[in-house]
Amino acid sequence: MCGIISYLGNRKNAGKLIVDGLKKLEYRGYDSFGFVEAVPSTSSGQRNGKFKLTKKVGKISEFPSSTFHFPLSNLALGHTRWATHGKVNRANAHPHLSADRKVAVIHNGIVENHAALRKELQKKGVQFASDTDTEVIPNLIAEFLKRGNLREAVRKTAKKLKGRFAFVAMVEGEKKLIAARNGSPLIVGIEKFFPKSDDRLISKIDGSAFFIASDVPAFLNFTRDVVYLDDGEMVEIEPSPKKDHFHAHFFEIENGDEIKKRVISIDWKAEKAEKGDFAHFMLKEIFEQKETIERALNQDERQIEKVAGLIRKSFGTFFIGCGTAGKVCATAEYLFAKIARRHVNVIFGSEFDTQEPFLTERTLLIAVSQSGETADVLEAYKIAKKRGVQTVGVVNTEGSSVARHSDVVLPVNAGMEKAVASTKATTAQLAILTLLAYAVAGKLDEGRQMLAEAASQINDLLNPRYSEHLEKIARKIKNVESLYIIGKAADYPMALEAAIKLQEVSYIHAEGFAAGELKHGPLALISRGTPLIAFVPTGEYRADVLSNVAEVQARGGRIIGVSAENDDLFDEWIRVPNVGNAQPIVNIIPIQLLAYHLAVLRKNNPDLPRNLAKSVTVK
Ligand code: M6R
Repeated sequence: MCGIISYLGNRKNAGKLIVDGLKKLEYRGYDSFGFVEAVPSTSSGQRNGKFKLTKKVGKISEFPSSTFHFPLSNLALGHTRWATHGKVNRANAHPHLSADRKVAVIHNGIVENHAALRKELQKKGVQFASDTDTEVIPNLIAEFLKRGNLREAVRKTAKKLKGRFAFVAMVEGEKKLIAARNGSPLIVGIEKFFPKSDDRLISKIDGSAFFIASDVPAFLNFTRDVVYLDDGEMVEIEPSPKKDHFHAHFFEIENGDEIKKRVISIDWKAEKAEKGDFAHFMLKEIFEQKETIERALNQDERQIEKVAGLIRKSFGTFFIGCGTAGKVCATAEYLFAKIARRHVNVIFGSEFDTQEPFLTERTLLIAVSQSGETADVLEAYKIAKKRGVQTVGVVNTEGSSVARHSDVVLPVNAGMEKAVASTKATTAQLAILTLLAYAVAGKLDEGRQMLAEAASQINDLLNPRYSEHLEKIARKIKNVESLYIIGKAADYPMALEAAIKLQEVSYIHAEGFAAGELKHGPLALISRGTPLIAFVPTGEYRADVLSNVAEVQARGGRIIGVSAENDDLFDEWIRVPNVGNAQPIVNIIPIQLLAYHLAVLRKNNPDLPRNLAKSVTVK
């Protein structure tokens, strides 16, 4: 959810850095944004470290930098919002200031006990200016500041908050940034890291400047040296006694003890996060599937075999994920049954707590997540760890919370995915789970070969003509109210995934069903012209699915068949190659393109769909 970034260092254009960083974080939330710059003393000496606050409703990408006047400043923080508490308006946009306007805070997450804290503060005479849960944070800090220093004030505040949060604070007149994390991501970026020795595990880090942000892309143009804050930790950035140096100092929230953190050099490339010649990130990422599936297969064989061994040994394997990643997990049930003759459990991250009574040290949890920061997955990890369950993360984001907390990591290797609608990460995850099923069956090489063949077919399939064909179909159905998708076996979760893709970017009501289920109720929804997208296999089950398609056609439905072979029942045929057990991977790609074209034709922004955000870091 919300994107946050802050800066303290030698550069004098902190406000501009924050705005540029927020533009890179827009996928996290895009209903409003704001930033505070600390303005140093002017010749008249009037604005010593005073706050300059800017807040706007709307997407930051729609505001060119020339909109803003940036004073000279080397300290600033900013936020792009995905509303949780309070309407989308200027007052609720971050940063939030304390009632005395001395403390500024940006926050990502939810303060669950905000109502009680608000009452407590109101009794002390604090007046609130917004409806947000966040506003209690600067006001608590301001209260504690009356009796102590900033670090202690922030620590005591963090201890009072219930829920998942990450926040950064600054105080008027103090050259400091201070941040605390419990549940939502926070990463410290170090520009010009000055290590004192080879040891990268340190409690006080020297650099020419520091960023604290919710995601790496916010500062990727400046540094690849980062420290990931963990839950229960805080960081303080301030000028170092050495001229033009700053340092970051790490502490525990619980008792204020100093802690050592590791500086990691990450291997991300800034240019990969730009959209180049493509009109949208979503389209670029769909086309990247020409390479990403092959990259996903490039797994360390020992790690895959290790996970396969864990699955074989386990007494109960759970695949968990949310949204699209949850649908990817649901294919595992079919793939493992068919390829490895093994039963696995599949459950959404948000439902995993219901399984706690069945968890033992012999249980295995495999989490699938693009961002590695999804709160529902991280909550599941907490339960799993409590019960001694081993964990495997199939994660796209290096250094993310899921990656750091998993016993084994299978990297998805799809590269940064910026469009809110997941595409290239989805198919790469599907490829890894398929490979894993082959590994459990003791047929890793066979699986790799089959998937490599599928990847090469996808390479041939993804071309501008194919995309134009999907656009033509999109034109024919762009004004429908509802559409339905069916599939059988592993294509059933893909029907559910197709529905998510269509819903989130086209805003058309879309629903996926198991092919054989239509006649048990949903068939009543079909009337003349209602589109039905059917994943129709070529071998086993073709006859079954075609009978279900015929039932819809007989009631006037318009049939869009996704299949390697055409059929008289199809009004439109979307050709896909026949790739055996990799069929779900191939089938979902044209639907991603269809959803994209529908979004564009309906004048929606496919990269930033309404009401959504790229990573969901609240429960
Ligand atoms: O980062 P994750 O893979 O854990 O995210 C899970 C879902 O929030 C995500 O897949 C969501 O459903 C996508 N927007 C779908 O395109």
